[in-house]
Amino acid sequence: MLIFGIESSCDETAAAVVKDGREVVANVVASQIKTHAKYGGVIPEVAAREHLSAINAVIDETFEQAAALNISPDDIDAFSSTTGPGLVGCLLVGLNAAKALSLVYNKPYIGVNHLQGHVCANFLESDLTPPFICLLVSGGHTQVIKVDNYDKQEIIASTIDDAAGEVFDKAARVMGLSYPGGVKLDKLSKEGNPFAFSLPKAKVKENEFSFSGLKTAVLRLVQSFEGNPPVNDICASFQETITSDLINKTRNLACKYGIKKIVLSGGVAANSALRKKLFELEKSGFKTFAPKMQFCTDNAAMIASCAYFNPIKTKEPLLLEAFSKG
Ligand code: KG4
Ligand code: ZN
Repeated sequence: MLIFGIESSCDETAAAVVKDGREVVANVVASQIKTHAKYGGVIPEVAAREHLSAINAVIDETFEQAAALNISPDDIDAFSSTTGPGLVGCLLVGLNAAKALSLVYNKPYIGVNHLQGHVCANFLESDLTPPFICLLVSGGHTQVIKVDNYDKQEIIASTIDDAAGEVFDKAARVMGLSYPGGVKLDKLSKEGNPFAFSLPKAKVKENEFSFSGLKTAVLRLVQSFEGNPPVNDICASFQETITSDLINKTRNLACKYGIKKIVLSGGVAANSALRKKLFELEKSGFKTFAPKMQFCTDNAAMIASCAYFNPIKTKEPLLLEAFSKG
């Protein structure tokens, strides 16, 4: 089964074709990062307009990549898109494009939840099967999800304040790194000492994360150097603190629920220290897995995979609307 997916929930306009939920046939991502870097974050109205101007070219290029493999638009079995959570003006662009394609080619439309899409990034070009525990860490969410089956999932922990990606970006910002700072912070950490500074870990319940104290501690630490902070050491210490907290809690929950397979998802799953700590769990008997780097941050291949494995169930998919939170 060939599914065409579109993702436009935030600052990436993306389209892809995926076969049977796992094999990526075509994959195109147009990033708006350069536009938003000027403002230090995503401006929703600007993002929606950028999606509008990019969407047709992204769809055309995706069809071109598929055509190179002798797949024509008529061979597509269904068209899908993210319906939420995300920025509604942005979501509407991808949602209406996918619905229009489904009407033009007379094939079903399938709506997809963005977060479940991130979980499904793990199925792309892999043979991973549930059950597993998934640590989902993105710019807007931090959750531990118990994935019992492809379409049976339960959130077993989440953040009570900031999301992990958000904290990476805010910590990067106080150190003068441009938006989105997570990936730059990751790079500078490689040149720093992860144990140079001791930063606080929140004392919260086993099913909660909290990063606002850590965020404030990084700000205070940077200010204490009065204009000349040891950026690499602060980056490395921050990264060590947050990634060990994320992995330790996830491992403890996996033990609690008796599940020996742990996977990552979301943009922060691209973080080198987080991936390293996850893979180290293999030594204590866990099976671990993380999506390929290009499938960690927002992309449409994960949406097409999710349309196959875990679509939004409704009798009237063409009536699905965009939603901001969920
Ligand atoms: O999943 P995603 O692309 O968008 C959302 O759905 O939010 O995640 C974006 C987040 C941003 O906060 C970005 O800074 C973070 O993922 N990120 C990273 C890395 N690459 C992306 N954070 C830490 N280390 C990275 N290597
Ligand atoms: Zn995302």
